[in-house]
Amino acid sequence: MINKTIVALDNMSFKEAKVFLDKADGIKLIKIGMEMFYAMGKKSVLELSEQYNVKVFLDLKLHDIPNTVANAIKSLQGLPIEFLTIHAVGGREMINAAMMAKQEFLPDTNILGVSFLTSLSEDHFKEILNIEVDSISNAFKRVFLAGLNENIDGFILSGHELSLLNKLCKSENKQTLKICPGIRFKEEILSGNVQDQKRVMDPKRAFDSGADYIVMGRSLTNAIDLNSRLEELKKTSVVN
Ligand code: C5P
Repeated sequence: MINKTIVALDNMSFKEAKVFLDKADGIKLIKIGMEMFYAMGKKSVLELSEQYNVKVFLDLKLHDIPNTVANAIKSLQGLPIEFLTIHAVGGREMINAAMMAKQEFLPDTNILGVSFLTSLSEDHFKEILNIEVDSISNAFKRVFLAGLNENIDGFILSGHELSLLNKLCKSENKQTLKICPGIRFKEEILSGNVQDQKRVMDPKRAFDSGADYIVMGRSLTNAIDLNSRLEELKKTSVVN
């Protein structure tokens, strides 16, 4: 499933990203984050996609009033972007403005909604959002529904929320892309080598649970033997 694995080039300079891609064989999708885009701008997307023949996931996590988000998307016109993120908690009007702008200016791009960041603690849900622990999954449901009702192209979600979104898609009769970060190889999970990720899943389980794509960063970018890890992903087969 290497062709469904998005490699997150986090904390890399443009130069370091190129060194990494020079030695990585078979990568088809890369994720460029705010750090690289703020530093290198459109050149980062254009040059990496052309030089390495990879598709780009531009992770800008847009979140502002609808008009500003639409204009931000307009400003990306012409870039070869496969996936672009917005914060789905920005609400239906903002999601709608993003979808309208993409239709006009980035018709080949998939707009993905981030629900709640994995870094948010239960305390944060209570303190800032007044959401009790046992209502958190309902909060995810409401955000997913907002996106589905605006026909968003997909969501970024942890593997552990896949069943909730799968059920909602069924009951709402909607289809959407499901893209899961927080992925670690099985033995990394077993040995607790998961860094700051809390709700991890291995690649095969994520795909078997319905992920269309997975996002992997440090398990690949810090791998001692990168090409054997990539081979492992190439051999990963999926149940359905
Ligand atoms: O290194 P690691 O595999 O943990 O990287 C995961 C990537 O997915 C990072 O770029 C992180 O920002 C992103 N991400 C995440 N959890 C989310 C949304 C995005 O880990 N909910």
